Amino acid sequence: MSVPPRDGLEFSEGSRRRLAIVRGAGARLIAEDGRAYVDLGATHGAGNLGSCDPEVVRAIQAQAAELIFLGSGYESPVRRAFLAKLLGLLPPTFGRVFLSNSGTEAVEAAIKIARSATGRPRIVAAYRGFHGRTLGALSATWRKELRAPFEPLVPEFVHVPYNDPAALDAAVDARTALVLLEPVQGEGGVHVGTDEFLRSARAAADRVGALLAFDEVQTGLGRTGRMFAFEHAAVVPDLLALAKSLAGGVPIGATVTSPEIEQRFQGSHHSTFGGNPLACAAGLAALERTVRDDLPGRADRLGTAALERLRHLPPERVREVRGRGLMIGIELRERVAPVLEALEQRGFLALPAGATVLRLLPPLVIDEDDLSAGLEAIETVIGRG
Ligand SMILES: Cc1ncc(COP(=O)(O)O)c(C=O)c1O
Repeated sequence: MSVPPRDGLEFSEGSRRRLAIVRGAGARLIAEDGRAYVDLGATHGAGNLGSCDPEVVRAIQAQAAELIFLGSGYESPVRRAFLAKLLGLLPPTFGRVFLSNSGTEAVEAAIKIARSATGRPRIVAAYRGFHGRTLGALSATWRKELRAPFEPLVPEFVHVPYNDPAALDAAVDARTALVLLEPVQGEGGVHVGTDEFLRSARAAADRVGALLAFDEVQTGLGRTGRMFAFEHAAVVPDLLALAKSLAGGVPIGATVTSPEIEQRFQGSHHSTFGGNPLACAAGLAALERTVRDDLPGRADRLGTAALERLRHLPPERVREVRGRGLMIGIELRERVAPVLEALEQRGFLALPAGATVLRLLPPLVIDEDDLSAGLEAIETVIGRG
């Protein structure tokens, strides 16, 4: 009996998918056997611009020929341009960015900055929250099966029910350094934070002099119909974690904060590859494209219509359809794995969020016909209401 070759990624959940993808353009992915798929989430939220956006490709090619890597101790015009572009999209209270290489690192930096700047230990996060898998970020992540094998985790992390302002308020006290939340929970099942909850998080942090961080690794850069999801509730955090789509698919993480908080930060934090010219060139191109083509507006328009359409799925099989922009969760009354399998057979790649939620994170540039075909495939597989 032949054993399939291991690809070195066996620790990752994604590697359980047997499909081998070799090429991509926009929302189309091509498998090794030549079959074409429509990406309804296969890029795990790192593909707001789809695969191989031509402007990002050109920027990477040009930068690779100039300078791929530079230690962060040196000035870099492309890094300067990228940071100026990013900060220009954010409220003026922001002004400092720590660049790293992934979402978990962006959260890790937020935790370190908050502990150091406040001199306090406690981090308040939420049930169902997902913030990454390095030990600090994992300590803020909720799911037991992700945490248990690695315990003891970092002390002083507490979790409260999401969308419960009173519980959050009760958990925040003079020992609290940071309240850390996703404005829309992604991995936890696509739960949209209410304006009231996000505002109460701001108020609770202010009440005790703690900091508020929004983890927008998945929600950022237009995904929810605004450039940043915190804009929906008009709640500005002290720290913002970004990654995934920030550099058009090139690894990057960013922790954004204010000059005042940076000044309170004692100690040091650093990443060799953080802020490298290649990622910054890709990031600059990705941000320019996102703004110029109003991709947040497109996500809002396409997402609103998709949600409306999916709300007609049959209630015998679907408990709830929820989401914001092109971040959509369909909570089933059954396990999601066979539905994902059936969609894949029809040429559509989507994601789970837990055992029963079908999650859609299509590229914001997806052709309307491809999106419509994807929704039709979902209707065929789950049934029409
Ligand atoms: C909200 C959120 N935070 C953090 C992470 C971790 O990002 P990364 O896998 O780049 O470390 C993810 C990844 O899915 C995420 O969705």
